[in-house]
Amino acid sequence: MRVLVTGVAGFIGSHLTDRLLAEGHEVVGLDDLSAGALVNLTEARRAKEFRFSRFDVADPALSDLVAHERPEVVCHLAAQMDVRKSVADPTYDARVNVLGTVNVLEASRRAGVRKVVFASSGGTIYGQPAKLPVGERAGLMPCSPYGAAKAAAETYLATYGRLYGLDWTSLALGNVYGPRQDPHGEAGVVAIFARALLAGRPTLVFGDGTAERDYVYVDDVVDAFVRALGEAGRCRRLNVGTGVGTTVRGLHTLLAEAVGTPDTPEFRPARRGELQAITLENGGIRRALGWEPFTSLSDGLRSTVDWVRGTVGPVGPFADSKKPPTRMGGGSSNQRV
Ligand SMILES: NC(=O)c1ccc[n+]([C@@H]2O[C@H](COP(=O)([O-])OP(=O)(O)OC[C@H]3O[C@@H](n4cnc5c(N)ncnc54)[C@H](O)[C@@H]3O)[C@@H](O)[C@H]2O)c1
Repeated sequence: MRVLVTGVAGFIGSHLTDRLLAEGHEVVGLDDLSAGALVNLTEARRAKEFRFSRFDVADPALSDLVAHERPEVVCHLAAQMDVRKSVADPTYDARVNVLGTVNVLEASRRAGVRKVVFASSGGTIYGQPAKLPVGERAGLMPCSPYGAAKAAAETYLATYGRLYGLDWTSLALGNVYGPRQDPHGEAGVVAIFARALLAGRPTLVFGDGTAERDYVYVDDVVDAFVRALGEAGRCRRLNVGTGVGTTVRGLHTLLAEAVGTPDTPEFRPARRGELQAITLENGGIRRALGWEPFTSLSDGLRSTVDWVRGTVGPVGPFADSKKPPTRMGGGSSNQRV
């Protein structure tokens, strides 16, 4: 099957591409490289069934490219995915995440694409639900422009389904972690803690450390995308999470164990606007796609630490000493979702 992957050079998109190529699919990858990096595509670029274009998903010329490539399925992962940035610059966020998605849908239906599989955000579209783990039928109450854009994109998916018969599945992802996760800035807490612990730098927890997130390993997320390529999961949202919450403090303990360093984070006052807890009910995706979270948190964290260890260079208390303390904690784990 020929699959077009947007956001191909990013964390999840590059893993998805490796899996699709390993299964014998042909992959046409698009990315504007605003956040992703070609180094993530090192394996993929060796395959003759892989083509890459540096391309902005909001560019109107996308229709020509998709019409030329004629993919059967589009996996749409390209996004501005920093919640804080969406608050600071909601117009930019909407340009990429709303207009970009409309552009992908329009190009897809013109080119006769069978299905669009979309990367939505279970951590932001539901807001702070009263009942956890939250199911797909809960109301959408995003508390950030990023979450609002994902909710809007889902509305467009459903509209294109009704208007043109374009099939779609929206995968509402939990907090995805694993190798290639961007450790810089306010990226995922796992990558940030792992990198800091390996470098012997202080780790900061904002709030009392009880904020809970649903951490799901990147290979399991990729498995959900692959299972959604066919007819199953037709025209609906499916949560992709474990249903189990892990506190930021608990996560720190597990990572300190995996790294082999003392479990002594520093605490800072909580930051406003962070969710206290979010976990995703996964009965829908188990039934629709036969999916289940395969990787235990401890195994996934170990793999992530091994990857970070291989990328940070010299490790030790003074190895990274020019850098400021790593800031992370509380719901900050949800900043890039
Ligand atoms: N990582 C998570 O925990 C998580 C959670 C929920 C949802 N998601 C969603 O999954 C998708 C992938 O996330 P990720 O973690 O791999 O992020 P990422 O930032 O690593 O990947 C996103 C990719 O999109 C590219 N991109 C951004 N703007 C673009 C544009 N205008 N045109 C073309 N490419 C563009 C970036 O360069 C990057 O390579 C995103 O849609 C994100 O919102 C991620």
